[in-house]
Amino acid sequence: MLSIIIPTYNEKGNMPLIIPRIAEVLGKVDIPHEIIVMDDDSPDGTASAVEELSSEFPQARCVVRKSDRGLSPSVIQGFGEARGDIYLVMDADLSHPVDVLPLMYRSIVEGGSDVVVGSRHTKEGGIENWPFLRRFISWGAALMARPLTSCSDPMSGFFALKPGVIKGAPLRAKGYKILLEILVKGRYERISEVPITFKNREIGESKLGSKVMINYLQHLLTLYLYPGSASLVKFLFVGGTGMLVDLGMVSLLLLFLGDNRFDLFSFKDIRFFYLFQAVSFIYAVTWNFVWNRYWTFDARSGSSSGQYVRFFLVAIFAFLVRSILLFLAVDLMGFDHQPLYEIALVGVIMIVTIINYLGSKLWAFSK
Ligand code: GDD
Ligand code: MN
Repeated sequence: MLSIIIPTYNEKGNMPLIIPRIAEVLGKVDIPHEIIVMDDDSPDGTASAVEELSSEFPQARCVVRKSDRGLSPSVIQGFGEARGDIYLVMDADLSHPVDVLPLMYRSIVEGGSDVVVGSRHTKEGGIENWPFLRRFISWGAALMARPLTSCSDPMSGFFALKPGVIKGAPLRAKGYKILLEILVKGRYERISEVPITFKNREIGESKLGSKVMINYLQHLLTLYLYPGSASLVKFLFVGGTGMLVDLGMVSLLLLFLGDNRFDLFSFKDIRFFYLFQAVSFIYAVTWNFVWNRYWTFDARSGSSSGQYVRFFLVAIFAFLVRSILLFLAVDLMGFDHQPLYEIALVGVIMIVTIINYLGSKLWAFSK
């Protein structure tokens, strides 16, 4: 059974349109379903409109919420009310095309997707006459979320999923963008998109205010900090702190154990310098390991010793690649003066970072 969750606030006029329409579209292809209207006690009488319809459409019911108003909390509570095997969320105002419901249903049941998103940003998708500014804001908002998910339209309020995706996920109801929250915190492997054209509502008004934008930025920040999200961004950040740890450690060792305490770079025995570098390397790799395990990749479920060994091997391999490439560039190809040396160095660091990242993600911390 498909559970359709529709959050509403003052959508009385849309109820007699959307409920029969869903029943018609799903009735034609025999998809058993329930329609759960999650209403925030709308003063316009949305709930009684649903009640009236439920004699003809017994699959529809309304849950009236009296506290914790808002779109996301309504949807999250709706998941708790749902009894179906697939959950689908859509707006009440017919902005989301009802005709694609069977397609979304089938991409989960037959296509093997865990999540399906009705997307405005795929090839055939689109938005019906939005002014340039709203398009631009929407584009910018989607761009900022890009590192968090592979989905082209994580702002969409139109999506379906298997209940297992959100089971146990610590969904916070603060953000307006419940799909983005689910895509970052949920558990899923396959996500697919169905192109939709977003139509402007004809009845009632939009509830999107200016507060929504600030709320969105706060929401983005918490999602970026959430363990396991945007792993490349976190990996680069952790790598940066690791370089500082490395440098700081070498300097401290030289300062306290070097030949000349006041001059960091004068020492009689060059072997000490290499020893100090090796110690700092181990120290920095360990630092990176801890942050990457708990934060970048959220890999605490795997065995930490195995992860540590693999992470270390990747780091050593990357270090060797770095030394060889620099040797080739500087000693053999003559990249030994400004600005060629700097260019070579940046290129080599980029290559080595990619090796480190992929080695960590696909091997050291892979689940
Ligand atoms: N329960 C509840 N509580 N429902 C609400 C609330 C609320 O506080 N605010 C809005 N809704 C319901 C509306 O009744 C409607 O069914 C749906 O949520 C979307 O609200 P609209 O006011 O129509 O928003 P929109 O058309 O501007 O936003 C749509 O586009 C966004 C992407 O641009 C929605 O689909 C959003 O989910 C989507 O993120
Ligand atoms: Mn709308």
